[in-house]
Amino acid sequence: MKDLPELVQDIVEATKKHEQYRDKECINMIASEGLKSPAVNQMLDLSHDLDCRYAEGENDAQGHVKKRYYQGQKYMSQIEDLATDIMKSLFNTTWADVRLVSGTHANLATFKGLSLASKNNKMVVTPLSCGAHISHDYTGLAGNILGLDNINHVYNIDEFNIDAEKSAYVIRAAKPGIVTFGGSLFLFPHPIKELRAVCEEVGAYIAYDASHVLGLIAGGQFQDPLREGADFITSSTHKTFPGPQGGVIMGNPNSPVMEKAVKKIQFAIFPLSASSTHLGRLPALSIAALEMKVFGGELAIQIVKNAQTAGQYLCENGVKVLAENKGFTKSHQIAVDIRSFGGGNKIAQDLEDANIILNKNLLPYDDQSSKGDPSGLRIGFQDVTRRGFGEGDIKHLCDLMLDVIKSKRKPAEVKEDVLALRKEFGKIKYGFQNVEEALNYIKKG
Ligand SMILES: Cc1ncc(COP(=O)(O)O)c(C=O)c1O
Repeated sequence: MKDLPELVQDIVEATKKHEQYRDKECINMIASEGLKSPAVNQMLDLSHDLDCRYAEGENDAQGHVKKRYYQGQKYMSQIEDLATDIMKSLFNTTWADVRLVSGTHANLATFKGLSLASKNNKMVVTPLSCGAHISHDYTGLAGNILGLDNINHVYNIDEFNIDAEKSAYVIRAAKPGIVTFGGSLFLFPHPIKELRAVCEEVGAYIAYDASHVLGLIAGGQFQDPLREGADFITSSTHKTFPGPQGGVIMGNPNSPVMEKAVKKIQFAIFPLSASSTHLGRLPALSIAALEMKVFGGELAIQIVKNAQTAGQYLCENGVKVLAENKGFTKSHQIAVDIRSFGGGNKIAQDLEDANIILNKNLLPYDDQSSKGDPSGLRIGFQDVTRRGFGEGDIKHLCDLMLDVIKSKRKPAEVKEDVLALRKEFGKIKYGFQNVEEALNYIKKG
């Protein structure tokens, strides 16, 4: 191994190369990644001291700071309360908690809190193979760390959705403490409305994992989980919601049962699972929330339009895009079955060689042991949309992808066109260019 200073030199070099490669030279289509605006990045740069601080303690029923254990908190408590209120205001809730450092942390605290509140260890979830996140599953956080028993929703592969009628039977029979919705391969709104009554009947809390679609929800697209009957939203803050990496939980506690749930979730955050809450991200999160309030509607509409355009175009050009009968998607992603062109592994790698970055993905009908070479690709459109791609640009990008997928041209050759296309989109749209611009926007009312 090299000595430490040389290793540091290498890591600085690798970081510079990464920033150039992924931010300037690649087209990013990974559906779980966000794109921060210059204003959000600048706010992160203005929050370096906050990044060193601790704010351990309890919060109250509104999600505000109640008790802190260290001194020096006067502005930190204000910052946390403001970030909490900003998220509450954007998503129209009476309670939020912004202390979660990731979406997985939000799930951990919510699942733990709700299992304590319901005194019930059973949780109905979407099958992992049908798009749930590993943190929902018995093989991941839910089972292996929290010790929850998973029972699967019934999933209809043709509809690419939970089968509400059949899942109602499952929920009635299992009587779980928690029913979850939401996921990672997430094309269509989940049937919360349809299952709310049966969840109430058995006394189950509904937790909706909005990690992938939070930005779409902020923009009034996809679905409105809390108004459709979810008790809590858990989420990352850095996918379609273009904030810094972090997590959030939100809800409208309006009954003793919900107030009890909030208390247990707060207990699961502190003292159970958080010490440092990474406060340096909160001002930047707040700038991203303002961007979603101002530009979120327009952005969300264009993201979904771009995803649907790509679905239609790839399909017309001989690629099997899932859910054709349903218009391909209502979210920021599409799923394609790429077996006839060599499988997920090969095509994802070939596209990477052309500087188009996406991920191979298991499809609901795949053998779950074929994770290494699944049938599918998951393609996300939130990044390119924020960079300003419209439908015409999406078709051009699809043409480049088709050249690779159909082996019409070598990936290295396509890469030259990808670099040229990427250069055309130098500015981030649907956001502020700096913090001053955000403040001027506010001043103008
Ligand atoms: C549905 C869902 N929930 C939770 C997570 C985990 O979020 P984080 O990476 O913020 O922990 C992901 C990650 O992609 C996800 O897709």
